[in-house]
Amino acid sequence: MKALLLESIHPYAESILREAGFEVETRTGALDESELIEALQGVDIVGLRSKTEITPTVLEKATGLTAIGAFCIGTNQIALDEAAARGIATFNAPFSNTRSVVELAIAEIIAMARRLTEKDGSLHAGVWDKNAKGSHEIRGRKLGIVGYGNIGSQLSVVAEMLGLQVYFYDTDDKLAMGNAHRCDSLDELLETAEVVTLHVDGRSGNAGFFGADQFATMRPRSLFLNLSRGFVVDYDALRENLLSGHIAGAAVDVFPTEPKKRGESFSSPLQGIPNVILTPHIGGSTEEAQEDIGRFVASKLRDYIDRGTTTLSVNLPSLTLEGRPGGGRRITHLHRNTPGVLAKVNSILAGHGVNIEGQLLNTRGENGYVVTDVAQLPDAAIAELREMPETIQLRVIG
Ligand SMILES: NC(=O)c1ccc[n+]([C@@H]2O[C@H](COP(=O)([O-])OP(=O)(O)OC[C@H]3O[C@@H](n4cnc5c(N)ncnc54)[C@H](O)[C@@H]3O)[C@@H](O)[C@H]2O)c1
Repeated sequence: MKALLLESIHPYAESILREAGFEVETRTGALDESELIEALQGVDIVGLRSKTEITPTVLEKATGLTAIGAFCIGTNQIALDEAAARGIATFNAPFSNTRSVVELAIAEIIAMARRLTEKDGSLHAGVWDKNAKGSHEIRGRKLGIVGYGNIGSQLSVVAEMLGLQVYFYDTDDKLAMGNAHRCDSLDELLETAEVVTLHVDGRSGNAGFFGADQFATMRPRSLFLNLSRGFVVDYDALRENLLSGHIAGAAVDVFPTEPKKRGESFSSPLQGIPNVILTPHIGGSTEEAQEDIGRFVASKLRDYIDRGTTTLSVNLPSLTLEGRPGGGRRITHLHRNTPGVLAKVNSILAGHGVNIEGQLLNTRGENGYVVTDVAQLPDAAIAELREMPETIQLRVIG
């Protein structure tokens, strides 16, 4: 089988796929639609990052494609429903850069509490500003985490290790880690915390959810961080609160509109304000995260091809599968999720005298995925399964 890895994916991914027996071609850049269609001829799996778009046209023309690996977090660049309708599994790396974001948040909380950017700026300008006023330890301070998912909950653990008292608010009912205190409302958190940090997801309902009213509810002289999504915060309101001194410092990594390319110019109402740390969406950008993304996504692709495992696929029903029993064969059958498909599959197998050794089914929206282990499988049974009107994709492994 052949894998094409685009956009300088970490070499770890290539080594995992080679070891699994793939022929691997790597390219440094992204490809536009026509280049991609050409490059995908004869390719079984493609790996990409955020700059390669898998459009419905690409999917239509890439007839041999079995799986797509998004070696990043987001999957907006991929026509996921069309891929599922063609039986093409898609995987991404939702957790690999969690720790990197957490470490940046911690670094920024300390940097703001010690006013490091101001001290650094003064000394670079030749001014020796040795002064303890306005500089604080973070030990014992109250940290308010809004959004207690993968990142928020890990930040909770690391922050507690540094002696912060953690409060969190999440719209879902989340398990409190360590000694963290769950707040019943966002206002309760804002009235309590001395540092407020946002780690909510990018659902459309979160657009502008943190604005003038929320800043007004925060304690005077508190610190604010946003490393989640740019569009969730009203940055003009943040600017006013920083200039008035109500908010003592801010660290912002994400913006409503961000330049597409490295080196492009950028502007924000937050520029030029003291004790404000601005970073170009680098929360998850570390070499460790890139390596883990390479490992994570390549392993998912390998396990899908080798075993049919769809755990954490972003567009197919999820099934976690062990290796095949020795010498047996595995039928992976992706189908339209209509009543009676499983009965039909089993009746075809029974009609050919095939004994089922193991079987698992899961569904997701319009698709169903049934995986059946058998000792032997006549070609006529495979042909009959393929011809079922509900069949989207059938693979026989082994
Ligand atoms: N800065 C970076 O480089 C970087 C890197 C990775 C992720 N992110 C962003 O960080 C954010 C968090 O990522 P994650 O992996 O922890 O996501 P996640 O989906 O695991 O967690 C998000 C949590 O926020 C909660 N939530 C959503 N809306 C809320 C609201 N209005 N109020 C309170 N809780 C709310 C959800 O219930 C969920 O528990 C995402 O927006 C992601 O895009 C940024």
